[in-house]
Amino acid sequence: MLKKKVEKILIEQIEKEGYSSNLYLAMATWAEANGFPGIAQWLYAQAEEERLHMKKFISYIGERGSHAVIPAFKQPPVEYKDVKVLFDEVLKHEQYITESISKISSVCIDEKDFVTYNWAQWFLTEQVEEEASVRTVIDKLKMLNKDNLYMFDKDIMSLRAAAASPTA
Ligand code: FEO
Repeated sequence: MLKKKVEKILIEQIEKEGYSSNLYLAMATWAEANGFPGIAQWLYAQAEEERLHMKKFISYIGERGSHAVIPAFKQPPVEYKDVKVLFDEVLKHEQYITESISKISSVCIDEKDFVTYNWAQWFLTEQVEEEASVRTVIDKLKMLNKDNLYMFDKDIMSLRAAAASPTA
């Protein structure tokens, strides 16, 4: 069985990962509605990853003999001023999730739950990759103006592939 404090913070993370997935779905629908199918595809892929993260938390809590309670999720924002603002929000959100996984690690150390500590480290590595991948997108966006956003939209999935491959 998980210790109470560890169980509580892991259950809270189910909500955070699930909200992340919904947030990126909402961003994807905004991108689609505003004529950016490539950006939408990038965000749908991101939403899928977050859903898998949520499921990893659910499975782990269950494996350790606790009850993974599924929470309500608040509604994500519907509108964004522009693509740059949207990706700035993605980065801010990922930084918040990195903080939150760091907090899980710190609770595990306080509670001497080194098994969960060890398990949670995968997420920290994942966060480093996700933040880097969003920064790459933001760096590209800084070099663009409205006229070449069309090409950026066509190309954004190749940025995702490059971020996933350390040799690229
Ligand atoms: Fe699973 Fe990127 O937070």
